[in-house]
Amino acid sequence: MQRVYFDNNATTPVLPEVFEAMRPYFGEHFGNASSIHHHGQETRAAVERARESVADLLGCRASEVVFTSGGTESDNLAIFGLAQPGDHVITSTIEHHAVLNGSKHLEEKGCELTYVPVDGRGLVDPDGVKRALRSNTKLVTIMMANNETGVVQPVEEIGKVAAEADVNFHTDAVQAAGKIPIDVNQVGCDLLTISGHKLHAPQGVGALYVRKGTRLEPMLYGGRHERSRRAGTENVPGIVGLGKAAELASAGFRRGDNANMAAMRDRLERELLSIESTGVNGLAVSSHPSGAWVGHPPRVPNTTNIYFDGIEGEALVIALDLKGLAVSTGAACSSGAIEPSHVLVAMGLRSERARASIRFSLGKQNSVEEVEFAIGLVPETVARLRELSPVWAKGAVSR
Ligand SMILES: Cc1ncc(COP(=O)(O)O)c(C=O)c1O
Repeated sequence: MQRVYFDNNATTPVLPEVFEAMRPYFGEHFGNASSIHHHGQETRAAVERARESVADLLGCRASEVVFTSGGTESDNLAIFGLAQPGDHVITSTIEHHAVLNGSKHLEEKGCELTYVPVDGRGLVDPDGVKRALRSNTKLVTIMMANNETGVVQPVEEIGKVAAEADVNFHTDAVQAAGKIPIDVNQVGCDLLTISGHKLHAPQGVGALYVRKGTRLEPMLYGGRHERSRRAGTENVPGIVGLGKAAELASAGFRRGDNANMAAMRDRLERELLSIESTGVNGLAVSSHPSGAWVGHPPRVPNTTNIYFDGIEGEALVIALDLKGLAVSTGAACSSGAIEPSHVLVAMGLRSERARASIRFSLGKQNSVEEVEFAIGLVPETVARLRELSPVWAKGAVSR
């Protein structure tokens, strides 16, 4: 059976070039990067080359890159490394759980949190961040691109708001890195998170950009690795893989690969929107109480999040998987019940529509033929599920 993978926001396959770059570091180059002999020097040099490549992707200095075990650790290091009990922290309602649950834990530790809302497009208002500032605000943490909708936040404006107030700004760029160009100085952030496995490097490696002069309390105590910002023997093969993936991503931007990706996503989106009672979350007209807004928000080129009224998203994911297409919902299963995505709910979607939503996320390995495969498969699958749907049959769904 043909299998097509359109769930690249969950994880991406390691690219062959990345795997080849990593291979020697599982075998002949096995040294501990802290050892002073030949074997250690060899791996140390590889780690430092990878640091340069990541710095090049982010527009920062190599010394400002801290390697970690992934996005979750980088987010946690940024948040817990800065905020102390009594501090105030501003975040948003649409963050990934690595930030949201970290923020909840900060509250338990005695920090004050403000969760700024989003509008119907899933955008944070920089003025909302400004209004939330207090005299004890220590940190603003707002993501760069949302993992469910792909909507890109106005991080440059938020960076300015934070800088004017002399407050540290962290942005979770896990879903932005490799998809849109990033320049930490343009963003004006002090901390920025990336994760290897979202940009075709392996799972279990990531990085945190830490602007020079930003004082971070480490989370792990041990050796003086990563300039005492992250103790623990470096994951050399993973770091080499992240470095190679960063290099490939930078080369891809120079070639304009993201325009091809956007063209494939747009073709898929256009065809799926011709199905009755569908719409793109973030672009669809919404009756969010936060008021009027105009214009489409910017999005990363690989993601679209579409609702198919009258069906359960989970049922569609399973039905498509049985036919060879892997996609996902943003829904979470808690205590046996399927909870609608907190992101879509925060955007003002009613819960049935949020539960009827599916995320399609493309990757560098996907082809135009695979897009055509999905275009052939989704409409008939949606139609079949709607035939079985009591709400659809009763006409209870607005059409
Ligand atoms: C926006 C965002 N932040 C953080 C993470 C966590 O990254 P990791 O899986 O590397 O821990 C993810 C992963 O889905 C994500 O999408």
